[in-house]
Amino acid sequence: MFITFEGPEGSGKSSVLNYVYEKLKEKNYKVIKTREPGGTPISEQIRNIILDKSNTALDPKAEALLYAASRRQHLVEKIWPSLKDGYIVLCDRYLDSSLAYQGGARGLGIDEILNINNFATDKTFPDLTILFDIDPKLGLKRIAQNSKREVNRLDLEKLEFHNKVRESFLKLAEIYKDRYHIIDASKPFDTVCKETLTYIENILNK
Ligand code: TYD
Repeated sequence: MFITFEGPEGSGKSSVLNYVYEKLKEKNYKVIKTREPGGTPISEQIRNIILDKSNTALDPKAEALLYAASRRQHLVEKIWPSLKDGYIVLCDRYLDSSLAYQGGARGLGIDEILNINNFATDKTFPDLTILFDIDPKLGLKRIAQNSKREVNRLDLEKLEFHNKVRESFLKLAEIYKDRYHIIDASKPFDTVCKETLTYIENILNK
């Protein structure tokens, strides 16, 4: 089972992922957690190029290709082998982030980004995608309050960009109804954690 956690900045998805990971482990599920961009040493190196605040000249198509390259390496070295070994893979962002950020918000087109990602992933889609939906105004406010989290190049985009990211995710949730589940991430953190865990466990026990 390949499960991805998606959402705009400040949706809390990474913390929820950690919570779900710990709970599933406690219950003796075979589970790993990983993240994009990154997840393997080579992919983390690509991540550093993408998120470097000084790389303001990074071309949007080059950016999209770097995300796809990082994703390919992550699949080959970590995700595919883990799935083959019977692990539940919890992944913080994946393909849908490229579709929403590069395809939607950057305006490169969802179909174009899907094309390069089909090449990169051999059409590996998640079994389940949880979308942590939140108004970017609230999400960005949360990030500003959370001084521990580093600010990256994409956080510095304007509110309008983040609104487009959110709209794109909601559109993707319509297109890919069968694998998407939307959680209202503006609710208190504990509630969001419990709702997510319950949903995932129900699917695992089906
Ligand atoms: P990260 O620090 O992991 O942020 P977050 O906690 O929000 O996940 O940075 C990842 C950034 O990269 C985030 O702004 C979203 C962006 N991104 C894309 O634009 N396209 C992609 O394909 C992926 C995986 C991430």
